[in-house]
Amino acid sequence: MTHVLVCGGAGYIGAHMAKALARAGCKVTVFDNLSTGHRAAVQWGELVEGDLLDKEALERLFKTHRFDAVMHFCALSQVAESVRDPYAYYRNNVVGTLNLLDVMHHAGVKQLVFSSTAAVYGVPTTDKLDESHSTLPINPYGASKLMVETMLEDAAKAYGLRSAALRYFNAAGADPEGDIGESHTPETHLIPNVLLHALGMGEGLKVFGDDYATRDGTCVRDYVHVNDLAAAHLLAMRHLDDHEGAHRFNLGSGSGYTVMEVIEAARKVTGKSISFSLAPRRAGDPPVLVADSKRAVEVLGWRPSFVDMPAIIETAWHWHCKPRY
Ligand code: UFG
Repeated sequence: MTHVLVCGGAGYIGAHMAKALARAGCKVTVFDNLSTGHRAAVQWGELVEGDLLDKEALERLFKTHRFDAVMHFCALSQVAESVRDPYAYYRNNVVGTLNLLDVMHHAGVKQLVFSSTAAVYGVPTTDKLDESHSTLPINPYGASKLMVETMLEDAAKAYGLRSAALRYFNAAGADPEGDIGESHTPETHLIPNVLLHALGMGEGLKVFGDDYATRDGTCVRDYVHVNDLAAAHLLAMRHLDDHEGAHRFNLGSGSGYTVMEVIEAARKVTGKSISFSLAPRRAGDPPVLVADSKRAVEVLGWRPSFVDMPAIIETAWHWHCKPRY
């Protein structure tokens, strides 16, 4: 049985990953400092509490467990926060990952699937971004993830580490069975904020900027369902079984939605009138981010199953109406 270490498995995407791995017959160990994750989200394997910045804790973990592969979701991931506090991002996302890579190397663990991000690209120069687009991040969050991708390239050459950096666009939605979902404090992401507002919770909904050069002036994003992300990780892990090197794949739906279109879709799904106020642009936000994920489709055989916005929002709404944590 393949034993997979899921770093950050108590968080939003990591918990969905743990469920998908268990469904696929893998053994799961979650390593998480619970700073943003939830103990109650760890339902498909043991939880080892710890921090990637605590290298001794990592060494103990790898001495007592024999992992076949690692999936790494631990990160600070808010663009605006990264602009305000870049050191925190470089420490957690870069130094923490370096510790993990070093310990994996000494333990002889040779496969890693890494959560990267569309934020590595910066401002797009083409309508859709494929992996050959230049990488010029405009915020420290994207820069921190790109630094890790560079380390993975070097580690492939020097130590034979096999890795797949999966560049997610906007992760969205929740487990359709309602076991797990998105729950951040404070919540900064658009879809959960819209849904919390529809439930009469949270602070007033704000739309950050309506003067972008887009069809209605608000930012365009490519929302991809969290279960489709998890499915791509499983495929990437299998790909590494017979492919050496450091690989990169975009993961997005290929369709862009403006902030206003997301709010409109949420009105239809929830049947609630959703009001908002206009606010200034948020620091670090690129105007448009839409994926070309052809490589993941062709090389990994990835077939996203949630293809439209209402279907994604439906699963998130199901969770927000009845969150378990
Ligand atoms: N937005 C609002 N109001 C809100 C929240 C967000 O108008 O209450 C807007 C943002 O300004 C942005 C869009 O909605 O234009 C999406 O914002 P999110 O915060 O939901 O997501 P981001 O695009 O900022 O970030 C996500 C991931 C990052 C990833 C990034 C790629 O969280 O990890 O996509 O750009 F890097």
